[in-house]
Amino acid sequence: MRVAPDAWGSAGFTGAAAREPEASCPFAPSGDADVAGADVIGGGGTGAGAAGAGATGGCTPAGLRPAASRATVLPRLEGPLPPSLRSPDIARDPYPLYRTLRTSHPFHYDEAFGAWLISRHEDVRAALGDPRLIAPVQGSAPLEDRTHAAHRALLSPALRGRALAALRAGVERAAFVLARRLADRQEADLVTEFCHWLPAVAAVSALGLPHEDTARVREWCRDGLTHLGGGHGDLDVFLRPHVARRRARPGADLLSVLCTARADGRPLPDETVVGMAGTLLGAGGEATHLALASFLANLLDHPTQLRLVRERPALIPGAWAESLRRDPAVHIVMRRALVPVVTAAGTIPAGADVACLIGSAGRDPVRFAAPDHYEVLRPAPGRLAFGTGRHRCLGIQLARLTAECALHAVLEALPRLRWTPAGRPESEGLTTRGPKTLPVLLG
Ligand code: HEM
Repeated sequence: MRVAPDAWGSAGFTGAAAREPEASCPFAPSGDADVAGADVIGGGGTGAGAAGAGATGGCTPAGLRPAASRATVLPRLEGPLPPSLRSPDIARDPYPLYRTLRTSHPFHYDEAFGAWLISRHEDVRAALGDPRLIAPVQGSAPLEDRTHAAHRALLSPALRGRALAALRAGVERAAFVLARRLADRQEADLVTEFCHWLPAVAAVSALGLPHEDTARVREWCRDGLTHLGGGHGDLDVFLRPHVARRRARPGADLLSVLCTARADGRPLPDETVVGMAGTLLGAGGEATHLALASFLANLLDHPTQLRLVRERPALIPGAWAESLRRDPAVHIVMRRALVPVVTAAGTIPAGADVACLIGSAGRDPVRFAAPDHYEVLRPAPGRLAFGTGRHRCLGIQLARLTAECALHAVLEALPRLRWTPAGRPESEGLTTRGPKTLPVLLG
């Protein structure tokens, strides 16, 4: 995914310096949890599709009816310029700024951030889908359209359909192992002991890497590597022997798909394969762990809704989509105008950067009634959290599978799960965002 300019610096992604002490890997061969031998929970069945919307039928809670009947153009108010996205405190709580931007400055140049800010749902959706706005890449030229489309075409089948179904059992088992390890404890932090691990397991399974390397992969997942074709020293060294093995003896995993793929009649070079694998780890890992942490936090905040989801697992996909609307993991996606671009929001000059504020779009009252409220029965929470257009996320289904497995395991293994008296910790982050800890009581 392409993210805001600071994603490669200190503010956005979690750097090594900010990490908590290393946790022991629950998937190491000599560890106490036997992934292969663990019970598999559930029957794989939460039902597919937008169950939250469709399956709930006439259950739309009062006050959550679509906002279509309301005015779609809010009055433009005069007043002081809004603070910059870079101002102190915005990363702690960006929502007041988002409100100001949507209401009175829907197309605003943020000098300090160096980009035009687009904040209304409709404008964000349109900008992300606009082919005249390209996804800038830090440190290297953007992939030309044909190569980008070819890479997507390669990756996409391996992250959905039958290939995805083949991953479910492994992710389910891992989720259950992780949750069961906590079952005898009184307290735990679900971010470090659960949310950080499961996306790494999903990535390891998808790429066909050894499970005993999950702890290393988890670190790369948390780095948030973000560009197709990119590289990362340690990751290169780790992946290259696996690439060589897959070239000699391909299997059914995603790394084998990349190693056997041909572009213009030739195999993909090693650096491309390694770059694409790295992109999947970074793009998928960090976003999924943050989204998972927000999902669990939203349900812990609403015990009645948690009970409802427990009783009716078909609501889980809708509950996940609603959490991504209210608390998306990726708040800012960048675009750059190659030519002057006239949009409904305003004219973007050639060469200018645009920050599409996904976090603001999900709270737009013109699109969503009671937008700050978390409601698992909301009829249409949308999917803007995964972007739209040519760069729409390739991991939507893998992320959803991971979230479903996570929640099933947590509900089954930790039936008394609730906040500690301190309650929900604040989310943090400007570009990517989520709670950094989830302190819970289990006993
Ligand atoms: C809840 C979890 C996730 C969220 C919120 C998320 C969000 C996003 C967003 C917003 C974009 C669009 C970036 C843009 O328009 O420039 C994106 C792109 C992407 N995502 Fe995800 N993502 C998630 C999980 C995953 C997973 C699990 C994978 C793969 C294993 C993945 C792989 C990718 C890739 C490869 C792209 C780039 C697509 C392109 O440029 O064509 N994501 N993601």
